[in-house]
Amino acid sequence: MPHPVSRPRRSVLYVPATNEKALAKLPQLACDAVILDLEDAVLPEHKVQARERLASFFAEKVAGGREFVVRINSLASEWGADDLAAVSQWAVDGVLLPKVDTVRDILEANDVLDNHDAPEGLKLWAMVETPRALVNIAAIAELSRNPGSRLACLVAGTNDLAKDTGVAVTVDRRYLMPWLMQMVLAARAGGLDLLDGVSNDFRDLEAFARECAEAAAMGFDGKTLIHPAQIAGANAAFSPSAAALAEAQAIADAFALPENASKGVISLGGRMVERLHLVQAEQLLARAALIDSFKN
Ligand code: COA
Ligand code: MG
Repeated sequence: MPHPVSRPRRSVLYVPATNEKALAKLPQLACDAVILDLEDAVLPEHKVQARERLASFFAEKVAGGREFVVRINSLASEWGADDLAAVSQWAVDGVLLPKVDTVRDILEANDVLDNHDAPEGLKLWAMVETPRALVNIAAIAELSRNPGSRLACLVAGTNDLAKDTGVAVTVDRRYLMPWLMQMVLAARAGGLDLLDGVSNDFRDLEAFARECAEAAAMGFDGKTLIHPAQIAGANAAFSPSAAALAEAQAIADAFALPENASKGVISLGGRMVERLHLVQAEQLLARAALIDSFKN
């Protein structure tokens, strides 16, 4: 996570727009963000009703500290345009675009939001879940350098990627790994946040914790989740550890000493520490403060 973040996105829970029980549970859950899904979790015959349900959900929703994003159907589908038009009028933080293949898909959604006078703060998130999206990932990430672009976050869609490529999904995700790392590099190049794909086995929380720890080490900002039981593990794995915070504080303290004021590089505990490490330490401390500031 070596980049300045605007808000914590450690735990991002998918909720099917048609699941009343799950919607009712949201106020009790400590996830950083929620993705209300109109796409794959909703059957074709329920699409319109699901959209209407979300319209009333957002009409009633009391403003809270957490981020709300709606995953719409693809603009190429029969529901996508109506979904996007509807969401542009709701009090949401973002729209998650599924099955993005090219830069054009994002620009098209940007234009629709602009045409509906959606607030500037309404961001676009993009699923990276097709082979074409991966092939085009550098250009997609570069989009966020464009001042008019709403693109803020990339979301790995590992189930769809496995389906469309035919790779086996193993516990260690070895065949997905190169593509996940490609996403990390692209997200960092574009200054975007990046969320890992879901873990389908929501009963095995030990395997889940290992997957989260690995994703954090790989540079992801957080993980998309399917079940409330996964929230605590994701929050823990994507928060700076006590050891990392202590080390960051030690680096900040060392550079704050008067004798180090004009030094570019110092020795600390037997290791070389440069000013770039100070920048990294300050980012980590800022991230921890940000997470704290969102705690209820
Ligand atoms: N968000 C909020 N609450 C959820 C939830 C979610 N994603 N998934 C489950 N819950 C709630 C259940 O409603 C239940 O509530 P209760 O305590 O009031 O009874 C509780 O958590 C325990 O759920 P559980 O019985 O263990 O699971 P389930 O059989 O009800 O649901 C799934 C399992 C997988 C169907 C469900 O978790 C789900 O739909 N997840 C999201 C799927 C999705 O959006 N996929 C698309 C993106 S990959
Ligand atoms: Mg998908």
